[in-house]
Amino acid sequence: MKTVTVNASKTYDIHIGGGLLASLGQEAARLGKASKACIVSDSTVWPLYGAAASERLLDAGFTVCSYVFPAGEASKNGQTFLDLLNCLAGNRLTRSDLLVALGGGVVGDLGGFAAACYLRGIRFIQVPTTLLAAVDSSVGGKTAIDLPAGKNLAGAFYQPSLVLCDTQALRTLPRSVFLEGCAEIIKYGMLYDPDLFAHLEDRGPDFHREAVIGRCVELKRDVVAQDEFDTGLRMKLNLGHTFGHGVEAASGFALSHGAAVAIGMAMITRAAVHRGICDPQAGDRLLALLERFGLPTGTDCAPEVLFTNALSDKKRSGGQVNLIVPRSIGDCIILPVPAEDVRVWIEEGL
Ligand code: NAD
Ligand code: GLY
Repeated sequence: MKTVTVNASKTYDIHIGGGLLASLGQEAARLGKASKACIVSDSTVWPLYGAAASERLLDAGFTVCSYVFPAGEASKNGQTFLDLLNCLAGNRLTRSDLLVALGGGVVGDLGGFAAACYLRGIRFIQVPTTLLAAVDSSVGGKTAIDLPAGKNLAGAFYQPSLVLCDTQALRTLPRSVFLEGCAEIIKYGMLYDPDLFAHLEDRGPDFHREAVIGRCVELKRDVVAQDEFDTGLRMKLNLGHTFGHGVEAASGFALSHGAAVAIGMAMITRAAVHRGICDPQAGDRLLALLERFGLPTGTDCAPEVLFTNALSDKKRSGGQVNLIVPRSIGDCIILPVPAEDVRVWIEEGL
């Protein structure tokens, strides 16, 4: 097992290893006095891991209730959020009780936001079951739901008290969901770590699970420790997200977040090579790696649609958009550009 400790407004451990779900009750009990735990999960993950999670919490002396919603991004909305709050209230959870988010990024974002809001904040544990959640969404305290006007538009920075990543749970992931999570891992290599990038080139999807997840979590831990509230360095984690968001929204969110990030990374890198900012060899290596992982690198969406969607993303600040632009493998910069110029970057990226 590997443990990474995050030092932000809250200090907490992220444990990564095979079979860690078995220690959920014990680890939850170590967080302090709590008598009830509500497990939040989705309709795919609950039948796979809900019983094991409940049993471990019962063994540790918790009274356990659950809230399970239909799997998928479409559930990450205000209605599900309110239903979950009502479930917590109906089961009379108090401020000393606990929420356990058992699932992928959708469960973690929604469950985390409910934990932040219920009684103005109760403790919660992230138990990520997708690769994307393991390396990204369960770490760093961004919680949110989608609004009709856009994705993640209501949310809070609210850190978990513990992250328990059982790498065995990733074995049941559909191949496509696993590969979509790999887009976020490739993102970390491109942003910060040429050795991680080279390991992915060498091993492809057969990379060393625990070591790679651990490395990504360490990289994110370092960013969150310096910029928890996303006013500076943390913006780099949005590599591929501005254009990715445009493609994701254009698909009506039928395209997964990971696939959209892959397309967004490919687009910004092509544009950066075109402008002489990015080393062309690095650009070729990124595109080849995305393809090796079976990830998309292009879209037939109209540039105008992508432009409108990209500008409605919350990463816009006044009349400027902060683009995250690669220079080489492991080296990306934050480049503020006038919103109007984003149209040209998109055309160059397609
Ligand atoms: P997801 O939670 O929808 O999971 C993808 C699919 O995999 C779902 O159908 C789910 O039921 C299924 N699944 C989950 N674990 C499984 C398992 N072990 N075995 C079999 N099936 C399993 O999607 P995701 O890709 O994990 O997360 C995407 C979400 O995360 C988006 O809403 C995105 O906005 C958010 N996100 C948040 C952050 C953050 O920092 N908070 C970062 C990145 C992404
Ligand atoms: N996933 C981007 C962030 O946590 O900032």
